[in-house]
Amino acid sequence: MSDPSHNTEQEMLPDGVVLKEHSYDGIQEYDQQLPRWWLLTLYGAIVFSAAYWLVSHYYMSSLTNEQRVEKEMQAINAIRLTNSIDVSNDELFWEMRHNPAFVLAGEKTFQSFCIPCHGANLEGGIGFNLVDSEWVHGAAPPAIYNTIFNGVPEKGMQAWGDMLGQKRITEVVAYILSKNNESAMRKSAASGE
Ligand code: HEC
Repeated sequence: MSDPSHNTEQEMLPDGVVLKEHSYDGIQEYDQQLPRWWLLTLYGAIVFSAAYWLVSHYYMSSLTNEQRVEKEMQAINAIRLTNSIDVSNDELFWEMRHNPAFVLAGEKTFQSFCIPCHGANLEGGIGFNLVDSEWVHGAAPPAIYNTIFNGVPEKGMQAWGDMLGQKRITEVVAYILSKNNESAMRKSAASGE
């Protein structure tokens, strides 16, 4: 389009197109403003990149994906730990037995599931009496826990583990313990279930 030997003159240009004075080796230059939309896009992108960098740096954290997974797993494990009760620990059950919150929760569960066979006052019926100081399957709290968790299916006592889960069964044990004499139970547990 351009013939180097033939300079463009300002008069030849349409209105609003400004030609600069100089000419280098026949190359001339327009003095044009970049369109506003174009500039806005440029400055917008610069502002956005700075803001994005700040936000990602401070809020999305600088962890790698692996570290992020690790962190999530730790949180999950922490939840799991608070749900995992050491049901082999006698003293834990005795502590729960003295905590009205656990005993009350256990009583509710007992009323919902155990009364038909063990009676409202644990006096027994289809199932054993649970306040007569006779513990066929063991008087130690973990033994009682296991009896309830695993049941005695061949004798008509179902396994409650899957249905009630660890927490509710420990509460029921706390409730049963609260209805029994502590020192008598500790004695019979110690003298070999
Ligand atoms: C369908 C009736 C039935 C229901 C419901 C039932 N049990 Fe039993 N339970 C029995 C029978 C029967 C036995 C005796 C098993 C045996 O002969 O060894 C028993 C035994 C037990 C023992 C063992 C007592 C000992 O002397 O060692 C405990 C503890 C017990 N049940 C707790 C519970 C709890 C807690 C619940 C409610 C979550 C429950 N049972 C619900 C029928 C039942």
